[in-house]
Amino acid sequence: MLSTYKQKQRVVHICIYLAITIIYLLLASCSKKQADEIAPEPPPQEKVTYNNFAQALFQSRCSGCHAAGGPGSGAFTFSGYASVVANAERIRQAVIVTKRMPPNGSLSAAELESLSKWFEDGMTQQ
Ligand code: HEC
Repeated sequence: MLSTYKQKQRVVHICIYLAITIIYLLLASCSKKQADEIAPEPPPQEKVTYNNFAQALFQSRCSGCHAAGGPGSGAFTFSGYASVVANAERIRQAVIVTKRMPPNGSLSAAELESLSKWFEDGMTQQ
């Protein structure tokens, strides 16, 4: 009698374990499914524009010499988007092709790549 009671108890324990495992699996699969549904599409690679990239680069890496009155202002005076577009081919040559500018060659490979992409994509402002 005692042994059948113990057997029953074991069966109950196994059932409880199984139930817990099943509930756990159900919860795990639900939350994973939900997470998949909620997760947004990965954004398309951000477009390089004047406003989100090029302006800051010209400002920080060029305007020290190419702002009005600076040592490089005779060759190119940076004064905003229009001044870059008007000199685009010379700037592209000096920075991307011959890499004469900036004179200390301080642009990183990533900056050069983004700037070159910006020229290729038609120098969009925003
Ligand atoms: C340390 C100062 C300095 C910095 C920084 C600098 N330049 Fe210059 N740049 C000059 C000087 C001086 C000249 C004129 C002499 C020459 O051509 O070497 C010049 C010339 C140029 C020219 C004319 C080249 C040609 O062949 O007609 C362009 C275009 C130019 N720079 C663009 C840039 C751009 C774009 C940047 C930033 C990425 C930059 N420069 C950073 C000093 C600088």
